[in-house]
Amino acid sequence: MTNDAPSVKEAKQVPDTISPETHARQRQLLEELSNAFGPTGHEGPVRAIVRRELTPLVDDVETDGIGSVIARIGDETEGVPRIMIAGHMDEVGLMVRQITAEGYLTIQTLGGWLDQSLINQRWVVMTRNGPIPGLTGIKTVHVMQPDARTQVFKKENMFIDVGAKNKEDAEQRLGIRPGDPVAPDSRFQEMAGGELYLGKAWDDRAGVAGLIEIARAIRESADPLPATVYLVATVQEEVGLRGAHTSSFHVMPDIGLNLESGVAGDYPGITKDEAQEELGKGPTVFLHDSSMIPNLRLRDFIVDTAADLEMPLQFNVLSGYGEDGAEMQKAGSGAPSINIAIPTRYLHSHNGIIHRDDFANAVRLVTAVLHRLTPDAVTNLTTFD
Ligand code: CO
Repeated sequence: MTNDAPSVKEAKQVPDTISPETHARQRQLLEELSNAFGPTGHEGPVRAIVRRELTPLVDDVETDGIGSVIARIGDETEGVPRIMIAGHMDEVGLMVRQITAEGYLTIQTLGGWLDQSLINQRWVVMTRNGPIPGLTGIKTVHVMQPDARTQVFKKENMFIDVGAKNKEDAEQRLGIRPGDPVAPDSRFQEMAGGELYLGKAWDDRAGVAGLIEIARAIRESADPLPATVYLVATVQEEVGLRGAHTSSFHVMPDIGLNLESGVAGDYPGITKDEAQEELGKGPTVFLHDSSMIPNLRLRDFIVDTAADLEMPLQFNVLSGYGEDGAEMQKAGSGAPSINIAIPTRYLHSHNGIIHRDDFANAVRLVTAVLHRLTPDAVTNLTTFD
């Protein structure tokens, strides 16, 4: 697509390089969001951070009827394109199913877990009296028959040990009730000299942090945006894109950009055919997942913008996986949509790894795309041959 305006680089709409100050600020935000408690349907602590950070940066912040945060930059003027950017606040977790007579908790999973990543892990159970620690206990090898030693523990047989004496003790002293949400107990750490960030819930706190950093970058740019931008921190993505469904209906975007945690394929045992992204090689544009096929003009628009920024960019074609972009794509009469991801290792477990440059470049890329989405560009993207 032709673009007569000065390049985003010449126009200084995004910084040329990632400064040490930017890395330090982003690290702090990513750490706070990664550590925050927020299993699917119980995103309150994450929502509080999002509201605190976005309120001074945007023109309006509201919450829809299911709990997604919708922040707007620009006026809702007739004829001005509406661009929605989504990132989901929820993380995979558990819920208390029932309390046994002995005081152990049986569980319901929230989101997609491998059985073997659930066992023998530390958890935070959020009761009405506050958080308490728990452990998914594992039967010791000493009492196990040889053939049982090589078998995977099934989640149906798992329980959380909260140290209660019995059911009454769990209910009365510890304050546990069925339905209480449970999140992985896992703390942020830097790795590899500070380039890599190890922590839980990069899916999708990396995307949520991205929304906040994009809002900041828009505020710091002297150039006003050519469109109205809705930054939407959604709920309940991990159980079927439920928050994005209602918030997309609310915003009715002309273009949908989703910011997600991607699937890195750069460690032993995973093939490049299964996942093509690698850590440190730039943000990733998804070309296929089981929820959405993106608009290819929008793909090319993003590829051109990344080239203009001299930024590395990757692609990924996944057979599984779903993401909020699918709901933006299907809202109203439909909108060109695409998923932009921050490559992540080991998602949907207690610990994942991202590269700080991939995050910072995803923020630069989406900010630049927003500056380029003029009414003419949006008309072009929403026109079909
Ligand atoms: Co996700």
